[in-house]
Amino acid sequence: MFPVHVQAKDLRVTVGGSRCKQPYSASIYNISAMSYGSLSKTAVTALSAGAKLGGFAHNTGEGGVSPFHIEGGGDLIWQIGTGYFGCRDKDGNFSEKLFKEQVAHPHIKNGGDQAVSGSQARARRYTAGCQEYTGDRSYTQGGTLYTVASPPAHSAFSDQFTMLLYIDKLRVLSDGKPIGIKLCIGNKQEFERLCQEMKHNRIYPDFITIDGAEGGTGAAPLEFTDSLGMPLYDALAYVQHMLELYGLRDEIKLIAAGKIITGVDIIKAISLGADICYSARGMMFALGCIQALQCDSGRCPVGIATQDKNLYKGLDVADKRVRVANFHGNTIKSTIEVMEACGFASLQDITPDKIFRRVEQGQTKSFKDIYFPKKPSPSSISKNYVLN
Ligand SMILES: Cc1cc2nc3c(=O)[nH]c(=O)nc-3n(C[C@H](O)[C@H](O)[C@H](O)COP(=O)(O)O)c2cc1C
Repeated sequence: MFPVHVQAKDLRVTVGGSRCKQPYSASIYNISAMSYGSLSKTAVTALSAGAKLGGFAHNTGEGGVSPFHIEGGGDLIWQIGTGYFGCRDKDGNFSEKLFKEQVAHPHIKNGGDQAVSGSQARARRYTAGCQEYTGDRSYTQGGTLYTVASPPAHSAFSDQFTMLLYIDKLRVLSDGKPIGIKLCIGNKQEFERLCQEMKHNRIYPDFITIDGAEGGTGAAPLEFTDSLGMPLYDALAYVQHMLELYGLRDEIKLIAAGKIITGVDIIKAISLGADICYSARGMMFALGCIQALQCDSGRCPVGIATQDKNLYKGLDVADKRVRVANFHGNTIKSTIEVMEACGFASLQDITPDKIFRRVEQGQTKSFKDIYFPKKPSPSSISKNYVLN
């Protein structure tokens, strides 16, 4: 009945736990991972330049940092997938030296490894040991080009504990920049085990990004896109539940991705535990995506998902960067308007008991009743661990 006033006109959240030396003040809405290679050079430059204009962050995608990310000038989250693009030695393994060199770039604000990538069928051409892009997804070394498919699993770690050690290593090598992981929940017990290892060893990622099953990429095999993983709302609630149960919530920021394109979408994700949201396809719409469904053919008619110069030269960076910044700015504005109307004076006021969904004819339930029906309790795999 009595709308409130949201003080902060630019909703931001600080990312970085107790072991992070360079915390990052992030917008609550950012550009999700999409590599140069899946997107054209003009698309990547326009996204990065839009991020700069609007004061938000741009995830590089697993293809790593390209000259077009740097040219755009936006804050970058460097994603390190199983191919270690940008920090890969000649055998395809993670190189501490190359990582350290690149991560020092001032535009790189966060790093993150993609914990679960699925089998990426996408072939990426690269040249061992060299970070230089030649365009069209290719890397060169001594003029030789190699074709690489991102492997299904990381070679730098093999289980929850070694993944945590790797995260800590990246944090040290980056002189304390925030380091996180991204995953789509598959097996719940694997995630609970991760929480136990975090608590036991007191090593935490600074952020965890949860991609819902509804996530989309032209690179994933169709059956993966259609059928694998937990939907975003269930996954967010589950992860929130586990982080609270193991007393980890103060150390870790939760980022959500999966069809979040309006202010209300952001509010719903926050109510389930997200601190920050990402958009991939929403940002593609801002660039002018018309859903021609040609991403996999390389013949995107609007110059976004293509490496054909004749197509991507039509994407006007100067115009599109403004559209990207406007999409972000207006979505934040809309988030604030809805918050004010609903009586949420701050992000902390957005709780799951305030959001309702119709569950069947004539019956509605709150997100709290749907997604948090009981108090968190450890599953049977937790017996050996002491809880708070
Ligand atoms: C063209 C394209 C490329 C993508 N590439 C990556 C990638 O390199 N790494 C990654 O973690 N996710 C990638 N994704 C997934 C997105 O980052 C995001 O998690 C997913 O699409 C859900 O968000 P959305 O519904 O806003 O698109 C890609 C998505 C698209 C559409």
